[in-house]
Amino acid sequence: MKAKIVVLVSGNGTNLQALIDARQAGVFDAEFVLVVSSRAQAHALERARRAGIPTAVLPRKSYPDDKSYSEALLSLLEPYEPDLILLAGFMSVLSDAFVHRYRGRIMNTHPSLIPAFCGRGFYGDRVHRAALDYGVKVSGASIIFVEPGVDTGPIILQEAVPVLDDDDVESLSQRVLAVEHRLYVRAVALYLAGRLQLRGRRVIITPSEGGNKDD
Ligand code: GAR
Repeated sequence: MKAKIVVLVSGNGTNLQALIDARQAGVFDAEFVLVVSSRAQAHALERARRAGIPTAVLPRKSYPDDKSYSEALLSLLEPYEPDLILLAGFMSVLSDAFVHRYRGRIMNTHPSLIPAFCGRGFYGDRVHRAALDYGVKVSGASIIFVEPGVDTGPIILQEAVPVLDDDDVESLSQRVLAVEHRLYVRAVALYLAGRLQLRGRRVIITPSEGGNKDD
């Protein structure tokens, strides 16, 4: 049976698009059973519809807190029996109860080298603004497993992106996004191939059948 993937989004959905394209190209084999957006206007919904993936809108603003929102999300997802939940530009925080229900099966992408510029309040362009204001010479992308707490889970993949002297939020975010797309696809492919092994907080990538860690 194919793995069932649910993707949670809030915005443009370029990471969702990269995942859809990778699946279509045969990089991994899985079924996108649902895309849920926390915002009705998210362009990601259009991307999902175009790919023939069922969509749902669960507006974050209709709920008073993370806990009640996550409860509604749990009920929405239950019938889909997801094997893997991918946060792709999802700007809401999931409750501990939600994370426990799907522990080890939720991934997120974050546009910095965690633990820099992450945690509550650091999302989207704010991350790049903070990196530029701080003056770091290197930023990057991180793909993590989601644990209780914001951006605290084990790191699956990371890659550095140099900050250039004339970078602004737009240029830096575009370069980081391109790396996120590549890393997210690889993280999902490794997970589905059963090649991600958790040792404490460390995620070990086990060799492929051909014996190579990098393919
Ligand atoms: C991505 O850069 C993602 O890492 C970030 O939002 C952007 C969404 O882009 N997520 C966070 O900051 C989460 N803390 P997309 O909608 O085009 O995929």
